[in-house]
Amino acid sequence: MNEIPGETVQEQTFYEQVGGEETFRRLVRRFYEGVAADPLLRPMYPEEDLGPAEERLALFLMQYWGGPRTYSDHRGHPRLRMRHAPFTVDQAAHDAWLRHMRAALDDLGLAPEHERELWRYLTYAAASMVNSAG
Ligand code: HEM
Repeated sequence: MNEIPGETVQEQTFYEQVGGEETFRRLVRRFYEGVAADPLLRPMYPEEDLGPAEERLALFLMQYWGGPRTYSDHRGHPRLRMRHAPFTVDQAAHDAWLRHMRAALDDLGLAPEHERELWRYLTYAAASMVNSAG
């Protein structure tokens, strides 16, 4: 399969390996269900409707993992730390964010190596977003 001598084997992106758009949309949908019911996180989101925030996070993650570049077409360079600067991301917000992500990730039922890779990234990214002590 795909092993034609002398030709480059096109590797699948992580995005494709885990099931593409549908997988990332399921992850983020489930995550925002958690956010919607969270007394600490919900008030941080400026918009009444969480739908547009859900869309931005889904598009960002899809792009990050090798899917379409729609996020940057709409939003430009991610600059995520800068975009989080208006919000107080302290340890409690970090923990709540990751708790909902963990639940969402568990629901996806990915292969263990994919799950570990995604989780490693999410925990690293969440730690780097903290901008407030306490
Ligand atoms: C650590 C806890 C975090 C908190 C409390 C938090 C909270 C927020 C809030 C309140 C917004 C504004 C909602 C919106 O207008 O989209 C936002 C936006 C966003 N967050 Fe986070 N976030 C956290 C971590 C992360 C991490 C780890 C990532 C990436 C892996 C991420 C990716 C994004 C993206 C892509 C946006 C939309 C940026 C834009 O295009 O405007 N966030 N976040």
